[in-house]
Amino acid sequence: MATMDTAEPSRRDFLYIATGAVAAVGAAAAVWPFVDQMNPDASALALASTEVDVSAVAPGQIVTVKWRGKPVFIRNRTPDEMKKLAAMDAKSLKDPESDEARVKKGHENLLVVVGVCTHLGCVPLGHAGDFDGWFCPCHGSHYDASGRIVQGPAPANLPVPPYEYVSDKVVKIG
Ligand code: FES
Repeated sequence: MATMDTAEPSRRDFLYIATGAVAAVGAAAAVWPFVDQMNPDASALALASTEVDVSAVAPGQIVTVKWRGKPVFIRNRTPDEMKKLAAMDAKSLKDPESDEARVKKGHENLLVVVGVCTHLGCVPLGHAGDFDGWFCPCHGSHYDASGRIVQGPAPANLPVPPYEYVSDKVVKIG
């Protein structure tokens, strides 16, 4: 199980997130005020959670939501993507972790990961790279559709944040 990266993104990353988020839909909770992201109070930070209606995420789509000032990718994997993941040998990966361990039972198609490269903190690009997962152009890290590092300098998989289904359609992150 990947651990949560608690390091706060740099100011540059915030700017990147502000201009680079591809889509943000269905966030039921209020978006964390931008000023608070820059200097969050510890107690407020501990409580911060985001609810997302994941029924709005179509197969093949990646949606980016903000949680505790970080981008979180929610990806609805297609049957074809799932088939490719099943064919991968998880034990051979740099950060060996099965795809099943990174998703919720009964919702295996849906992946939720923190969208911050584990190398130096850039935001990777979705549906890109040699494994059709994410590609971090900063130094060339390739992730698969499970957010696992397959190639490049990143030392670990994209972390899975704490989350749960509060209904069939709604996921609560945090
Ligand atoms: S920050 Fe992603 S590869 Fe360096």
